[in-house]
Amino acid sequence: MSLITRYLGLTLKNPMIASASPLTGKIDNLRLLEDAGAAAIVLPSLFQEQIEAETENQAARVAAFANSSPEALSYFPAAATRPYGLYPERYLDFVRRAKEAVSIPIIASLNGSSRAGWIEYSKHIEQAGASAIELNMYLVPINLLESGREIEAHYIDIVEAVCSSVHLPVSVKLTPYLSAIGHFAVTLAEHGAAGFVLFNRLMEPDIDLSQMKLTHTLELSDPAELRLPLLWAAILAGRVDASLAISTGIRTTEDVVKSLLAGADAVMTTSALLRYGAGYMATLTTGLGQWMEEREIASVADIRGRLSWQRSQDRSVYTRTDYLHILEHYPASAENHFPFPRID
Ligand SMILES: Cc1cc2nc3c(=O)[nH]c(=O)nc-3n(C[C@H](O)[C@H](O)[C@H](O)COP(=O)(O)O)c2cc1C
Repeated sequence: MSLITRYLGLTLKNPMIASASPLTGKIDNLRLLEDAGAAAIVLPSLFQEQIEAETENQAARVAAFANSSPEALSYFPAAATRPYGLYPERYLDFVRRAKEAVSIPIIASLNGSSRAGWIEYSKHIEQAGASAIELNMYLVPINLLESGREIEAHYIDIVEAVCSSVHLPVSVKLTPYLSAIGHFAVTLAEHGAAGFVLFNRLMEPDIDLSQMKLTHTLELSDPAELRLPLLWAAILAGRVDASLAISTGIRTTEDVVKSLLAGADAVMTTSALLRYGAGYMATLTTGLGQWMEEREIASVADIRGRLSWQRSQDRSVYTRTDYLHILEHYPASAENHFPFPRID
């Protein structure tokens, strides 16, 4: 039986990848993940803000050196603020150490919303030994005067610039909030993207009623969130010239199998690892093997995309026809919703 898959042109021993989180920012955890069967690891992102802070800091150091005594340099800390993760130099050092610590592919991650510094750092990341780069373009389109077309052009510009500056495969962690995800994925692939991670999870503030203010806590994902990436993996599989990874909502072996059936080449998880520990990766990797063995499935390739749009016998499940059918047959009475609590 073979669990081997191809993702971003890399041969992976199985489809399971640990996605970017603080867990993948510690060398000990990378070893634990490898021992538990992870086929690749995405490092926590290097953030645009960190690159910019370092650039500003360097400029300030140069100015201080020019205008006053060299001792003034010591007043400048290595970086102005430290929101999350590692600053560029330490990030590159971490990529090097990660590469040495494990033998599975290390995917570095860049997170931002403009070109600032990304091209240069992509090159450094390549030199540091990463096997691929994941771009997370975290942009909340607050500006109501900016059109979808303009935002997409902006994304394409960044992807093209990064892809043309390195030889590494580059994947894009897509947002699901686009009006034409498929068209955008095809366009990004034409501009060099080797794969897509479905999807990026935006921060969604909640409201604290006792204080009447917005709060920004980070909730781990719920398995129900898998439905959206599952749908889009199924729609894109075999129709876009790039690899697909599902990310968001993966908790069980069954979730992994569903992702493969939909058409994912790789399956990523973070929340499950943060909840149950790095060793939980073994539950997913061995679970997948057992699931396939019990059904005498010889390879991942035999199930991948079997339920994708392209290979689907009945495509109505993706369309308005099925939607209307579901609505028509949905029970109207509250009794049918047991065990949900009644509101009288
Ligand atoms: C605490 C935490 C930190 C994260 N840091 C990053 C990050 O640095 N870069 C990134 O692209 N995604 C980051 N993510 C998002 C995860 O990589 C992943 O896409 C998301 O949690 C959805 O997957 P899941 O349902 O398996 O958790 C982070 C998630 C969490 C919970």
